[in-house]
Amino acid sequence: MPKKLFIKTYGCQMNVYDSGRMADLLAPLGYEATLTPEGADLVILNTCHIREKAAEKVYSELGRLRPLKEERARLGGRMMIAVAGCVAQAEGEEMIARAPVVDLIVGPQTYHRLPELVARAHRAAGAVLDTDFPSESKFDHLPETQAVDGPTAFLSIQEGCDKFCTFCVVPYTRGAEFSRPAAAILAEARRLVAAGVAEITLLGQNVNAWHGEGPGGGSWSFARLLHALAEVPGLERLRYTTSHPRDMADDLIAAHGRIEQLMPYLHLPVQSGSDAILKAMNRRHSADDYRRLVERIRGARPDIAMSCDFIVGFPGESDADFVATLKLVSDIGFASAFSFKYSPRPGTPASGEARQVDETVKSERLAALQQLLGAQHDAFNHSMVGRTLPVLFERHGRQDGQLIGRSPYLQAVYATAAPALMGRIVPVTVLEAKPNSLAGALTPAAGAVSQHMEVGA
Ligand code: SAH
Ligand code: SF4
Ligand code: F3S
Repeated sequence: MPKKLFIKTYGCQMNVYDSGRMADLLAPLGYEATLTPEGADLVILNTCHIREKAAEKVYSELGRLRPLKEERARLGGRMMIAVAGCVAQAEGEEMIARAPVVDLIVGPQTYHRLPELVARAHRAAGAVLDTDFPSESKFDHLPETQAVDGPTAFLSIQEGCDKFCTFCVVPYTRGAEFSRPAAAILAEARRLVAAGVAEITLLGQNVNAWHGEGPGGGSWSFARLLHALAEVPGLERLRYTTSHPRDMADDLIAAHGRIEQLMPYLHLPVQSGSDAILKAMNRRHSADDYRRLVERIRGARPDIAMSCDFIVGFPGESDADFVATLKLVSDIGFASAFSFKYSPRPGTPASGEARQVDETVKSERLAALQQLLGAQHDAFNHSMVGRTLPVLFERHGRQDGQLIGRSPYLQAVYATAAPALMGRIVPVTVLEAKPNSLAGALTPAAGAVSQHMEVGA
């Protein structure tokens, strides 16, 4: 009898990648993925600790799982509940006390030990905990095969962070920066393409800080890795996320003008437009550094769509600091952005700051910033109407006969299209811009338009 595995994923794309690998690890033990927790033999919550709300969601979910677990026990079965990811790492011991329903706690750097941990948890009376930062890399212990889900895939190439922004938990939950060797990344990319993947998004908490061992020895830069990946036959599109402004090296900027497969979309968080706040955040760049950087990136790839993250209400943020953020947003013009109220995180330097910003001020600033960013996002999407964009169809739409895909600028585009076009890059003329997607129609004279038509435009 196959055992049922339910995984719920919170947080960033790296967690999405990790959840896939956990399923790969558990498949040889007879675990098959299910879509609901009811009746599952093993439930894994792969958690995020980045903001307080994200972390609290885990405890609510555990509350909902408890009756399911009890019901299962009444019927003579057992539902094992595991918590993985960044909350597991940050709150392991506390969690055992606060949520006795949990059988197993495993951190982001030890989940390759899941098969052994699950076996131990079956035998153990209390909860089993593994939140080490082991000397071995989990990547060396993960199985090769990876379940592929459609024509796009994530590939983690870098983990952890040594930057220690004063608001952020990631250096504590994910540990020190680590780059996978180029050969392992290239091999994984080839396997993904062989399984039908056309677009790979390279992942890392600081993906552009990647610098690794080259296949023949010696050290490679991230740009060199991108050039090598672009040579993989059948790999049509490349993206990477998330980047730090400090790691946008010259050869990486140049790569945006040279590598056709590299899509013209860059998520490059700045967090604030005020130099005083950037300094207090330990970002180690100024607002003008960021402006100049974007100018150079646009010099290499004029049509690049810029995306960003912002935090409002960081301790000590004055009205003038906030206005500087609005100014930076107006100066740059973002195609998309995420913005958050500062959330004090246990153990981070900024959480102990005396000058915390009032909650209502944070809310007002967030609303003002989101209004501006929303207007820029709408303007960007409206500028696409009438244009023909190469769209990689990746899933079925809500309506019959509809396919949904992504433009080079990461916009969701839907159109009526034959199912055979799934996984293909097809020219689509944009008819209408909706708040979160573009409505389009297939261009009759299809074939001639390549996805790279925008390069150097
Ligand atoms: N590695 C990425 C970001 C990882 S976290 C980078 O360096 O940019 C994703 C985003 O969450 C951050 O960019 C930041 O905007 C937000 N964030 C992180 N910690 C936060 C906190 N304590 N409160 C509010 N937002 C936070
Ligand atoms: Fe967090 Fe800063 Fe590292 Fe990004 S660079 S993960 S925000 S500490
Ligand atoms: Fe969250 Fe951890 Fe990612 S805190 S954002 S899941 S690295």
